[in-house]
Amino acid sequence: MRLLFIGDVVGSLGRNTVSDYLPKLKKKYRPQVTIVNGENAASGRGITEKIYKKFLQDGADVITLGNHAWDNRGIFEFIEDAKRMVRPANFPTGVPGVGVVFVKVNQQELAVVNLQGRSFMVDLDDPFRKIEELLAQIQKRTPYIFVDFHAETTSEKQAMGWFLDGRVSAVVGTHTHVQTNDARILPKGTAYLTDVGMTGPYDGILGMKKEAVIEKFLTSLPQRFEVVEKGRFILSACVIDVDDKTGQATRIFPIQISEDRPFSEND
Ligand SMILES: [Fe+2]
Ligand SMILES: [Fe+2]
Repeated sequence: MRLLFIGDVVGSLGRNTVSDYLPKLKKKYRPQVTIVNGENAASGRGITEKIYKKFLQDGADVITLGNHAWDNRGIFEFIEDAKRMVRPANFPTGVPGVGVVFVKVNQQELAVVNLQGRSFMVDLDDPFRKIEELLAQIQKRTPYIFVDFHAETTSEKQAMGWFLDGRVSAVVGTHTHVQTNDARILPKGTAYLTDVGMTGPYDGILGMKKEAVIEKFLTSLPQRFEVVEKGRFILSACVIDVDDKTGQATRIFPIQISEDRPFSEND
């Protein structure tokens, strides 16, 4: 089973990049399941129903979220009906939406889980104990498990990778928007990447207009951050191959497309 995961899609530039390149990526890499992190898809903040549906139309199978999940209030109107979307599973009980979805892949099923870290982030339920609890259920159903761990610190992400090694197919980080150069298979068969990176503006700061961010660092005064809507783009993703018998990963490699790293159909 081959998975394609596209990192944090930011604003209209990110969405257009997905529309343009997802078909090309699918043609080149032939994934059975495509997962897209959409927490910043609506002007950098949250996701709308229209955008969610467009991602599915463009070829995504599951949309994952993160700390920005709730920024667009419209989410509360469609999250319960969005059967192919996950928000971090370790939000307190009773919060709308789900933290795990199952996707059919031929005769098998892939579980897609979203978790959020706690270091330098809001104080959610413990993501380690939450995934432990979820695994007890998920593993009865399938060994194919993909975890999008939305977290700020490298240490928390590495800890999750090692904690889940041999128990899930992949732990891939999101949220920091810059792709890390550490894709690997851990010794017990879990694919790991600290952060897959973002998809959207190439010339901003994590997708936002750089002037306001620099001003914030210069003055420490509050600034209004706006997403970059025009200009150059970057697409960040990774491909993971999972063994069809065991659910263990056999390969993970990162993908970046930008003006500096143009897309080629056959490299
Ligand atoms: Fe993000
Ligand atoms: Fe985030």
